[in-house]
Amino acid sequence: MDYMMLVNKDHPLFEAYVPSNLEEVDSKYKENILLESKTLASFKKLQEEALKQGYHIDVMSGYRTYSYQDKLYNKLLKEKGFSYAFRSVALPGRSEHQTGLAIDFCVYKDDKCYIEHEIENLEETKWVHENAHRFGFILRYPIDKEEITEYNYEPWHLRYIGDKATYLYQNNETLEEYILREHI
Ligand code: DAL
Ligand code: ZN
Repeated sequence: MDYMMLVNKDHPLFEAYVPSNLEEVDSKYKENILLESKTLASFKKLQEEALKQGYHIDVMSGYRTYSYQDKLYNKLLKEKGFSYAFRSVALPGRSEHQTGLAIDFCVYKDDKCYIEHEIENLEETKWVHENAHRFGFILRYPIDKEEITEYNYEPWHLRYIGDKATYLYQNNETLEEYILREHI
C-alpha cells in the first residue's frame, strides 16, 4: 500500500480499484464502515489518546466504493447545484475515500453526535487537528488551502499518510504541495 498516494481531481483511481486490506470499524455512528487496516489501527490509537483528554471521537465515513461516491455526488448536485457539489464532494474515482485511507470523524459530546460543520468550533476538533499527525494523519482540506486542494474546508476529513504526517503538519503543507515539490 502506498500511504502517500495522491488522489484528487487530477489524479483519479480506476473504477475497479478496491484496496486489498480493508477491515471493519467498530463505530458507534454506523455499522459496516471499512478502513484500510493500518489506517484503522492508527485511528484507534488517536481515539484512545483523545479519550484520555475526555474527548470522544468516532468514524462516520471511511472506505467508499466508486458507485457509492457517484450516488453521493449526484445527490448533492441535485440538492445544492454544481458549484457547491464540485467543491464539496469528489466525483467518483476522485475521492480519497475509495483508497480506504480517509476518515470523516464525528464527535460525541453531551449525548449528541456532531458531524461535518457542527464540529468546526469544538475543542475536540482543535485537539484532533493539533495531534492527528502524531498518529500519521493529516487534515486533508485545510481552511487556508482551498485553492490548492480545490475543496472547501473540511474540518472532519483526515487522511492517513504515515510517517510524513508530522513534517506536513509542521510545515503547513498539503499533500499536493509535498508530492509536487518532491517530483521537481
Ligand atoms: N468530501 C471529499 C472531498 C470527498 O468526497 O472525497
Ligand atoms: Zn471525507
